[in-house]
This record gives sequence, structure tokens and C-alpha cells, in this order.
Amino acid sequence: MTNPVHVEPKRVGLVGVGIIADTHLAVLAERPDVELDFTVDPRAVGPVVFRGATPPHYGGLAHALDEHRPDLVVLATPTETHAELAAMALLRSTARVLVEKPLVHDLVGLAMLRELDGKADVRARVFTAHHFAFSPEVDWAAELLATHPDWGPVTAITSAFYDPYVLRGPEAFSSYVSSWTDSGVNQLSMLTRFVDLTELTSLRQADGGASAWCTVGFRSRGEAGSARLLSSWLTGSSSKESSLVLGRSGVEVWIDHTAMTGFAARGDELLAAFGNDGRTPRKVAHYRPLYASLLSDRPDPVLGFDAAATITAIHHAVPEAR
Ligand SMILES: NC(=O)c1ccc[n+]([C@@H]2O[C@H](COP(=O)([O-])OP(=O)(O)OC[C@H]3O[C@@H](n4cnc5c(N)ncnc54)[C@H](O)[C@@H]3O)[C@@H](O)[C@H]2O)c1
Repeated sequence: MTNPVHVEPKRVGLVGVGIIADTHLAVLAERPDVELDFTVDPRAVGPVVFRGATPPHYGGLAHALDEHRPDLVVLATPTETHAELAAMALLRSTARVLVEKPLVHDLVGLAMLRELDGKADVRARVFTAHHFAFSPEVDWAAELLATHPDWGPVTAITSAFYDPYVLRGPEAFSSYVSSWTDSGVNQLSMLTRFVDLTELTSLRQADGGASAWCTVGFRSRGEAGSARLLSSWLTGSSSKESSLVLGRSGVEVWIDHTAMTGFAARGDELLAAFGNDGRTPRKVAHYRPLYASLLSDRPDPVLGFDAAATITAIHHAVPEAR
């Protein structure tokens, strides 16, 4: 009988102990292949308890990296800090870096990370938590379309993402910048499961950045199509839905990202429907498969640097005046 091979757990450093950090911690705690090495936050945060213990906590990433040799650094900090902290993690450690979405808040940050590629193997080490691409209803709909080439190309998409951030006031802008910065990247990364995005064709921001309306071109099964994306913080509750129209066949796929449900219909015929057992909180349902993929031998390309660079370029393109 052969002894099972002992694999050392991966040491994870968590940077930023705010709202989304709770989901990272919950999902990481489920995984026997990881241990929490340290946490970082300049704010006075309560002790982070992970599997009954409290790992060392630091006020800055530089100090933590002087003391630890993590395998993975997770950046769950305000969006405008991502590029700088990712560069620090790349240059001061050998760890892979999982950056919360969006990878960067502007094209300068993307160029800075690209320039580091010669020094720090950015393309092999930087991953972006495009978590909406892993949501169960997205997975279901992508699989459904893949098994039905007879339905033809996706010809039009409409997606509306609402978050109740109006209640958080200026704090929402300092954590997430704007609704387009925050939700736009979720919408774009989610759409990469269905179509090949080509360009941002229009963008109009409103309500001081708390709302946005944009159109994006895409290709599906060799044909061009267009997506309309609305995002807004002017609400008291979260609500996120997308509809995919396959105009040649008359099929429509409706996905509700809040309830994690979906259905496909053609005329008055229901073609397929998707629900869930109601037991898994939405963010855990996203991050569980995301971490499973990240920590596997072959992380999904949607997590990789090239996907983030493509999404960032579209996200930050200034559409030509039409
Ligand atoms: N809240 C969500 O539902 C959600 C979901 C997915 C992704 N995200 C992304 O995660 C990121 C964080 O969002 P959040 O909602 O957790 O924000 P948050 O403001 O609740 O938390 C951010 C934390 O980072 C800390 N921080 C600030 N600067 C730091 C630094 N230099 N080093 C270490 N820690 C630092 C802050 O003190 C705070 O505790 C954002 O980029 C956001 O787009 C958030």
C-alpha cells in the first residue's frame, strides 16, 4: 500500500479586511489545502478568527511581506489601491496574487503592471476575482448555449445591475469609484462566458457616477451583436438580471443573478429552467468555484491577466463620437 502524498497547504495572506473579505475567509476556511498566514489592514479591525485561531495582523503589506513567505496574496482593498498593492506583492514576494475586481481603476495601472512582466512574471502570477463569471446561473446558461448550436448566435443582450450603495454615500465612491467601475467589470466579465466582446460603443455616466448606461459590441458564432448595460446605486436593494436574445431562432435566455435562477423560452414554449436549493449565499456561490479554479492546476482563463487586460481595455475605452 502506498502512503498518500502529503501536500503542504498553501499559505494565504489576506490584504483588506472589509466587506468582501468575509466571503474570501468563509470560502478559504472550507478548503483543507489552504491556511491563513496573515492579514493586513491599516484600519483598526477586530481580530480575524480563522478556524479558531487568529493569524498575525499587520498595518501594511510591506511589513507583512518582510515577515512571511505566502504562496498567495489576496487583495480585497479599495479599487484604487489594487495596482499599487499588486505591484508590491509581485516585487516583494514570489506569491501568486488574486486581486479583487476590477484589476485596476485606470489604464495607467494596467500599463504599470504590464511593464512589470519582464521582472515579475505578471502573466503567470496575477489573477483577477471576476466572480460573476462563476455564478451558478451564468454557468448554467453558458452550458445551455454551448449544447445548443442550433439556436444560432446571441444577437442582443440587455443587463441591469443595481446595488444599494446610495445608502453608503461617499464611502461607496471611495471603495468602488463609480457604478461603471464596479458593476461594469462584473457585467463585462460575466458576458465573456457567452460572447467575444469587441469594443465599447457608447458610455454615459449619470448621477455623479452612481449610474451608467453603455453599449458594447460583441461577436457570437461569427456574427456581430450588441449589448446594453445599465448599472446604478440608486436603490435600497440589490437586483441584477440579464437577458440574452438569440434572434435567428427566437430563443431568449433570462438570468436572474440575484436569485441565481434562469430560464430559456421560445415564444410560449419553456425550453429549460434553472433554480437552486436556496442554501448557498450568493457570494459564497461565486467564490467557491472561483477558488476551486484558482487553486487547481489550470485556473480558468477568465481569472488570468490577459482576460483582465482585455476587459480593462474595453471597460476604459473612450468611445468615438458618433
Ligand atoms: N463588497 C462586495 O460585495 C464586493 C464584491 C466583489 C468585489 N468587491 C471588490 O473588493 C474590493 C473591496 O471591496 P469591499 O466592499 O470589501 O470594500 P471595504 O471598503 O469594505 O473594504 C476594504 C478594506 O481595505 C482596507 N484597506 C484600505 N487600504 C488598504 C491598504 N493599503 N492595505 C490594506 N488594507 C487596506 C480598508 O481599511 C477596508 O477595511 C473592491 O475593489 C470591490 O470592487 C467587493
